[in-house]
Amino acid sequence: MLNSPVVEAAPEDRPRPRISDPALMVIFGASGDLAQRKLLPALYNLVQKGLLPKDFTIVGYSRTGYSDEEYREFAKVGVKEHADVEFREDDWQQFSQGIFYVSGNYDDPAGFARLKECIAEREQGRHTGHNRLFYLATPPSVYEPVSTQLGQANLVHPADEECWTRLVVEKPFGRDRASAHALNEHLLSIFDEEQVYRIDHYLGKETVQNILVFRFANGILEPIWNRNYVDHVQITVAESIGLERRGGYYDKSGALRDMVQNHMLQLVSLVGMEPPVAFDAKAVRDQKVNLLRSIRPLAPEEVGQYVVRAQYGPGEVNGEHLPSYRDEEGVAPESTTETFVAWKLEIDNWRWNGVPFYLRTGKALPQKVSEIAIYFRRAPHLLFASAEDSKQISRNVLLIRIQPDEGISLKISAKLPGPSVKLQPVNMAFHYGSSFGSTPPDAYQRLLLDVVLGDGTLFTRRDEVEVAWDRVTRVLEGWQMQEEQAQAQGVPLRLPTYEAGTWGPAAAEELLGQEDQNWRKP
Ligand code: NDP
Ligand code: BG6
Repeated sequence: MLNSPVVEAAPEDRPRPRISDPALMVIFGASGDLAQRKLLPALYNLVQKGLLPKDFTIVGYSRTGYSDEEYREFAKVGVKEHADVEFREDDWQQFSQGIFYVSGNYDDPAGFARLKECIAEREQGRHTGHNRLFYLATPPSVYEPVSTQLGQANLVHPADEECWTRLVVEKPFGRDRASAHALNEHLLSIFDEEQVYRIDHYLGKETVQNILVFRFANGILEPIWNRNYVDHVQITVAESIGLERRGGYYDKSGALRDMVQNHMLQLVSLVGMEPPVAFDAKAVRDQKVNLLRSIRPLAPEEVGQYVVRAQYGPGEVNGEHLPSYRDEEGVAPESTTETFVAWKLEIDNWRWNGVPFYLRTGKALPQKVSEIAIYFRRAPHLLFASAEDSKQISRNVLLIRIQPDEGISLKISAKLPGPSVKLQPVNMAFHYGSSFGSTPPDAYQRLLLDVVLGDGTLFTRRDEVEVAWDRVTRVLEGWQMQEEQAQAQGVPLRLPTYEAGTWGPAAAEELLGQEDQNWRKP
C-alpha cells in the first residue's frame, strides 16, 4: 500500500474555477426512471453542495398528467432514495419550489406552446438569465420530434447570443452508422455542434477521468505506454445482473450496441490516445477521434475471427437463479441478441501496432466489475529462470479499477523471504477510498455540472460518435452475414450460450489464444 495523504474533500466538492450560470433545465421524459433515479437526485446534490445556484429551475415535460405538486412528490421519492447528501426537509422545500411540470405529447405544438409559456414565466420570476438546458431523457424514438418542436417553438437561442441554450442527448445515440449520422444531421439543423452534449455516463466516472491524469501527469508512464513495452490490454466491463425487466429495450439492442459502442470504446480511446496539446474539449476530443479512427475496420468475413458473441443460459449468480436469456420477460423466444461480447481489437498506429486490445462485456457474469488491465512484456532476460521460478515470473500488470473498489495497482514480482530465490507477485496499490477519504460522486453530478458550465470535454463529439458507430456497424454487418448464411442453409442461427454466473463462453478464451495470454480473473 503506498502511503498517500488522506484528503478530505472529493475532487467534485472542491471550488471549481468557474461559477455556474443561473439556468433553467427542461427534462423531456420527466416521468421516467432516469429522471427520478439519476437526474433529479444529481441536481439536488449539486444545489446542496453549492455547485449550482439555489434558484436553479427545473421544468419536467412528459405525457403523464402531473400537476407541479404531484411532480414534486415524484421527484422527492427519487431524491430521498438516491441523493448522496443528507435529505433535510427545509432544504427540500426550498429546492422543490424551483420544480415545475408541463404535460404534453412530444410532437404536439400545443404542448410546446404551454412549455414556452411556462419557461417565459419562470425565467422572469426566478432570474435564470434566459439560459436553457434541454435534456432528452426519453426513448430515442422521440429525440427527433422533440428537437423539431423546440426549433419550431423558437426555444433555441442562436449559439452566438449572450444567454445560452444547450441540448443533452442520452444514449443510445443511433443504432448503427447510418442512423447516428441521420440523427446528427437532424440535431445540427436546429442546434450548433457546441450546443449539443452527447452523454456517456462512463466519462463522468472519476476513475475514468483519472485515466488521463494518470497517463499525462506522471512522467514515468509515457515512455513505456506503447508497443515496445505493452504486450496487450484487457478491458472488462462485467455485470452480474440479468435484464431486470429491460427485456423490451435490450433485446433490440444487445451488448455490442448497449455497452461496446459507447462505454467501452470510450475507455479504449482514453487508454490509447496520444497526449492532447491542452486539457480542453477540442484538444482531448481530437485525440480520441484519431485513436478511434485507428481501430482496424473489420470486413464482414473477418468478424467471426475477431469477435465472439453469446447469450446466457440458466444458472446462478450470487446465489440467485437466473433463467436463460431467451426465457426472460420481453425477449423473443428465438432471439439472437447477444448478452456477451468479446472483441480482439487491433489499432493501426505507431504507438499500438501489434498490441491487441481485448474487450469483454456481458450480463449475468459472476460479478460487477469494470477494469482496464495493461499487460507489460516480460523481462527480456530471466535471471531467475530455473524450471521452477520461470513459471513464477509473471508479467507486470497495471490495473485501473473503474468500479467497484476504485483505484490503480501495479503487479510486480518480489522475492519471497527465505534462503532460496523464490518469486511471488505482489501489488502496489492506490485506493480512492483510503487516499481521498470518500467514494467518488455519481457520474451524473459531474456531467450535469459540466453542461451548465459549458464544458464539453467529457461529452462525445459528432465525429467521435460516428467513427465509433462505423467500427461497430462493421461487426453488425458481419453478424448479419452469418445470419443470412445460416438461413440459406436452412438452420436458424443459435448463438453459443454460457451458464449464467460464469465468465462467458469458451470461445472468448480462445480469442486470446496466444501463449500465456489469458483473461484476468477480476
Ligand atoms: P423510460 O422508459 O422510463 O422513459 C422515460 C419517459 O419517456 C417515460 O416516463 C415516458 O413518459 C416516456 N416514454 C416511454 N416510452 C415512450 C414511447 N414509446 N414514446 C414516447 N414516450 C415514451 O426511460 P428511462 O428514463 O429509463 O431512460 C430515458 C433515456 O435515458 C433512454 O434513452 C435511456 O436509454 C437513457 N438511459 C437511461 C438510464 C437509466 O438508468 N434509466 C441509463 C442510461 C441511459 P410519458 O409516458 O409520461 O411521456
Ligand atoms: C448502461 C446500459 O448504459 O450502462 C446498461 O444501458 C448497463 O445495460 C449500464 O447496466 C452499466 O452502467 P454502470 O455505471 O452500472 O457500469
